Amino acid sequence: MKKLVILSGAGMSQESGIATFRDGNGLWENHDVNDVATPEAWERNKELVLKFYNARRKDVLNAKPNRGHLLIADLEKYFEVDVITQNVDDLHERAGSSKVLHLHGEIRKSRSTKNPNLIYDIKGADLNLSDKCELGSQLRPHIVWFGEAVPAMEKAVEIVDKADILLIIGTSLNVYPAAGLMNYAHRDCQKYLIDPGEVAGRYFSDVEVIREKASKGMEIFMQKVLEV
Ligand code: OAD
Repeated sequence: MKKLVILSGAGMSQESGIATFRDGNGLWENHDVNDVATPEAWERNKELVLKFYNARRKDVLNAKPNRGHLLIADLEKYFEVDVITQNVDDLHERAGSSKVLHLHGEIRKSRSTKNPNLIYDIKGADLNLSDKCELGSQLRPHIVWFGEAVPAMEKAVEIVDKADILLIIGTSLNVYPAAGLMNYAHRDCQKYLIDPGEVAGRYFSDVEVIREKASKGMEIFMQKVLEV
């Protein structure tokens, strides 16, 4: 089986009703990212950060995988599929994808502020100021904030390096190191990009671009890769 690697971003979940980061007014659900998605924001105002992510988590719990997610899961019949996602939602998993690597963390999980290896499932939508890990320290959202390292990068590079086909879907390729991942694909790897907008100049000249939303784009992509 050929190895198909999918790098997804916020546009993947747009049709599930989850807002993207850079298509709106420059704010993220009416917040400046510096106020809610940085280690400094956490130090300054934990309550605001927790409240912000509680609202985002509620959105995720109310959302359902869209046809794009479902088609990606379907591709496991034909390829060895690895999904590398910048999304913190669990819609790829709920659609049935079995190998999903989250570069920027997972919103339905919390993490100890004392030992980053202590990661827990959040029951329900809310993580609160009094919620502690087993060592007694405050739990934080299991999210990679701006200015923090991306621990999953090494694994992601290893995966992209082995790709026969690379599909980039629903990402503006603005945020590094994730945006640099495609540079690790082999020269003879077939590369595709699905996005209804312009993702100009940020990818190889040998990428085949499908200028559609995720669900329609995935239908077209499937026809292309399964037609042989
Ligand atoms: P962006 O919001 O930067 O980009 C979303 C991309 O999805 C754009 O290129 C849109 O044109 C495209 N898009 C919009 N609707 C779509 C649809 N229905 N189908 C397919 N594509 C669509 O989001 P990301 O590139 O994912 O990080 O952003 C990367 C990171 O920046 C995020 O993971 C997040 C953010 O700050 C953290 O929170 C750490």
